[in-house]
Amino acid sequence: MRFEVALAAVLAPFTVTAQLNDLAVRAGLKYFGTALGESAVNNDANYKRIVTNKSEFGQLVAENGQKWESTEPSRGSFNYASGDITANTAKASGQGIRCHTLVWHSQLPNWVSSGSWTKDTLTSVIDTHMSNVMGHYKGQCYAWDVVNEAINDDGTWRDSVFYRVFGTDFLPLSFKLAKKYDTNAKLYYNDYNLEYNGAKTNRAVEVVNIIQAAGAPIDGVGFQGHLIVGSTPSRANLATTLRRFTALGVEVAYTELDIRHSSMPPSSAAQVTQGNDYANVVGSCLDVAGCVGVTVWGFTDKYSWVPGTFNGAGDALIYDTNYNKKAAWTSVSSVLAAKATGAPPAGGSSTTLATVTKTSAAPAVTSTAAGSGPEQVRWGQCGGNGYTGPTKCQSPYTCTYSNPWYSQCL
Ligand code: G3I
Repeated sequence: MRFEVALAAVLAPFTVTAQLNDLAVRAGLKYFGTALGESAVNNDANYKRIVTNKSEFGQLVAENGQKWESTEPSRGSFNYASGDITANTAKASGQGIRCHTLVWHSQLPNWVSSGSWTKDTLTSVIDTHMSNVMGHYKGQCYAWDVVNEAINDDGTWRDSVFYRVFGTDFLPLSFKLAKKYDTNAKLYYNDYNLEYNGAKTNRAVEVVNIIQAAGAPIDGVGFQGHLIVGSTPSRANLATTLRRFTALGVEVAYTELDIRHSSMPPSSAAQVTQGNDYANVVGSCLDVAGCVGVTVWGFTDKYSWVPGTFNGAGDALIYDTNYNKKAAWTSVSSVLAAKATGAPPAGGSSTTLATVTKTSAAPAVTSTAAGSGPEQVRWGQCGGNGYTGPTKCQSPYTCTYSNPWYSQCL
């Protein structure tokens, strides 16, 4: 796409395109990734084309395929068919994987959740599960979500078979066992609603403390980032929260980012707010040494889990259902490009890269002047340095300046 060509020229000699993973890496992150829907990648060529684009997504996560119900549906019987979809897709495209997840109360087969266990027998069950699953993916996972969602939203411990049998001892136990089976994978605690820095976040700090105090290895905390348009914390507050964990000596990452509209369809103003919220989340990661990457929980609104779970909510991702890039995509690319090129991001700090040639900002494009010629669709590109495509938008959308390389029909 011309936008990418233009930004690649700006970023020369780094041979970086304007796609999200390339920008993220240039901006100092390890990756920009996405969850991969196992069914979508097998059945939708457009989905597959984007999800396998390493410049856009440097890392994939199996949305469901590596969970316990998929990998060990009955005791001692292991199945990697679904998990391997992501691993094989990533391998073929030169992408990395995050691995998700081992000890979790959900998508846990009944034989585990309803079993009658002692500490010894459940330890053996977890050990066997990790030995097989981590062994199968050994050497491929940048990180494993070892324990997922052990805390309720009010900060109390979640009632699960693991908590009932072990109390909080299942936390260090799980990390100690995991370390045996893939010494190179980063071992993460992963949870949602940590972003608000409340009682749940305090308890997650305690999770890290408990694991470390027991002499068990923990390398990272995953902020899932299932957020709401207009209710997402500011970039500065998010960064403050991330730093509570990096201060404990662990890395952090956004692992399942999506920002849903509470009412559908969203207005254009709500789309812009969503873009700002995305920029604040990604920007906060850029602002914190020790925040290693951002993963979106799917990239297209076509397949998101959100509408099925939150009645009336939706459109939480960065591409729409027709694979057009949304304002949210542009915001993410802008905040990454700003850091990558040393341009000052809105409301944040910047790093100047002396060897990068900056272009002057293009004037804001606001024209939808009448006349002949092609018109760009909603969310489509309509301007930017080096761009030569349609500069008019289909009614009622307006060509709106985002950054020197990109204007978009909003
Ligand atoms: O595989 C079955 C299929 O055989 C069956 O016909 C169909 C009928 O409903 O269900 C299919 O399973 C679904 C599964 O996704 C695979 O598509 C489940 O019903 C559905 O509940 C399940 O939802 C997943 C959810 O986790 C379960 O908790 C979502 O796709 C997945 O996006 C979501 O991901 C979680 C993360 O793992 C952890 N953090 C929260 C995040 C969002 O809930």
